[in-house]
Amino acid sequence: MLKEAESAHRTIEVRPQPSGFGAEITGVDLSRPLDRDQLAQVKAAWAKHAVVAFPDQPLTLEQLEAFTLQIGPFGADPFIKPMPGHPNVLELRREPDEKATNFGAGWHSDWSFQAQPPAATLLHSEVVPPVGGDTLFCDCARAFEALSPAMQAMLAPLRAVHSAGRAYGTKGVFARETEKRTMQIIVSEEADETLTHPLVRTHPVTGRKSLFVSPVYTVAVEGLTPKESQAVLGFLFAHMVQDEFVYRHRWAPNMLLMWDNRCTMHLAEGGYDGHLRVMHRTTVAGDTPV
Ligand code: SIN
Repeated sequence: MLKEAESAHRTIEVRPQPSGFGAEITGVDLSRPLDRDQLAQVKAAWAKHAVVAFPDQPLTLEQLEAFTLQIGPFGADPFIKPMPGHPNVLELRREPDEKATNFGAGWHSDWSFQAQPPAATLLHSEVVPPVGGDTLFCDCARAFEALSPAMQAMLAPLRAVHSAGRAYGTKGVFARETEKRTMQIIVSEEADETLTHPLVRTHPVTGRKSLFVSPVYTVAVEGLTPKESQAVLGFLFAHMVQDEFVYRHRWAPNMLLMWDNRCTMHLAEGGYDGHLRVMHRTTVAGDTPV
């Protein structure tokens, strides 16, 4: 256990996951404003470990919003109807009788199709099913660092094409869905638009380079033929999700998880049909990837 901060009020403890990717933070009460030292230590731990879990944090929606705003301004969440009275909170809810695939079931980095994708996503567990429902994270920095220098040099100047179309577009997964879904998804032509980001991005705080592509939102590599794009992206996706780069997060009720979309991608696992799962999610605005 590392003691990364001691303030006059509380001691924050940061326990890295055994793999070195992800950490658990205790000794902090997120229902109240953090003092300057605590906030700086939380932000530093988040930058260092990329996925940080805060167990035993019962939070109202207002407290979740307030903690999010301590990290940074809200990001823009498109294509999903937010909670009534809480325009910056999404409820990820799946009822016991729902048959539709659980939300977030493919590997992605949140809203990477935006010009300035969110730096952070915060997810607070309200109802956790007794089985399944884990969230898996891939360490995109380690995945990049594990590539050969020749492959890194080949990828570094490339730009990847991102789009929300496969999920939220007019011909996307949600447009074709026939099963009942509690979450209100807004299918839109806007989702079919594309933009490019560096395929390898540099973290603004740590300076580490990460692969910034995902199977859900990256549709091509700029300047490559479709076959070449498929070959490069297919290789990268298989490389990134190897066990050595993946952290499996197991939820407990009243847990807050905060992850860094600039250097991770994630996937929400199902396996809890017949059980309710309810999470509340906010995002923090990010920069233009470079
Ligand atoms: C997501 O934000 O992609 C969903 C994560 C989850 O529900 O575990």
